[in-house]
Amino acid sequence: MAGEAQVINTNTNINRKVYIAPSVLSADPLNISGSIDSLHNNFDWLHLDIMDGHFVRNLSFGTDLARALRKRYPDIYLDTHLMIDDLKVILPLFLDSGSSSITIHAETEPQLLHASLMQIKKAGLNAGVAICPPTPIESIKYVMDLVDLVLVMSVTPGFGGQKLIPNSLDKVRELVSIREVNKLKFLIEMDGGIKANNVSEVVNAGCDVVVAGSAIFEAENPSEVVNKMRSVL
Ligand code: DX5
Ligand code: ZN
Repeated sequence: MAGEAQVINTNTNINRKVYIAPSVLSADPLNISGSIDSLHNNFDWLHLDIMDGHFVRNLSFGTDLARALRKRYPDIYLDTHLMIDDLKVILPLFLDSGSSSITIHAETEPQLLHASLMQIKKAGLNAGVAICPPTPIESIKYVMDLVDLVLVMSVTPGFGGQKLIPNSLDKVRELVSIREVNKLKFLIEMDGGIKANNVSEVVNAGCDVVVAGSAIFEAENPSEVVNKMRSVL
């Protein structure tokens, strides 16, 4: 079909579980559950972007949506990504919001990063740390042993539908070797600009979790796009 992203398979037989995480940010804002239901459960994690209009130039959802998603889909893995400035106020609101994991940015109040990750873990949730495209891996070196997830932003945070920044893949490769050398256990997630025609490259670089918003929810058949992504993994 015209404009259909062709699938490029650069797969070198991935023999590990790869989680596909559709991003709710690209769902129909007037019918979010309808968008999710159009996936017919064909996804692994659900990625929920929380934006405060300060850390990023956009405003998105609050705890109400997180709670409603948990109520409607009790068994999902809800992967909450906080793009917010004020950890002291916002993080506690999300600790009992129904999220399975909460990811915070290394760039948000770095002086509170360690304590905030501990707070997430103490609440019994998986803890993730995210870095923006210009942020070096060095900035999360001393929390890698704490986290369950490292989220590599492959676009400037704030909006869906952007183009993947290629050198984000180098960060993933570097994280894979750091994890191996130091016998760490975090999963590596990439977030932004992932489509059926580049997901293979993203996973070959070493990603365990791939977030896709517009590629999935803006497609005619979202579940079909997930199948296409799985077919090249
Ligand atoms: C951007 C968000 C991403 C975004 C992904 O700030 O963190 O999760 O929704 O959307 P796509 O896949 O369209 O780039
Ligand atoms: Zn995100």
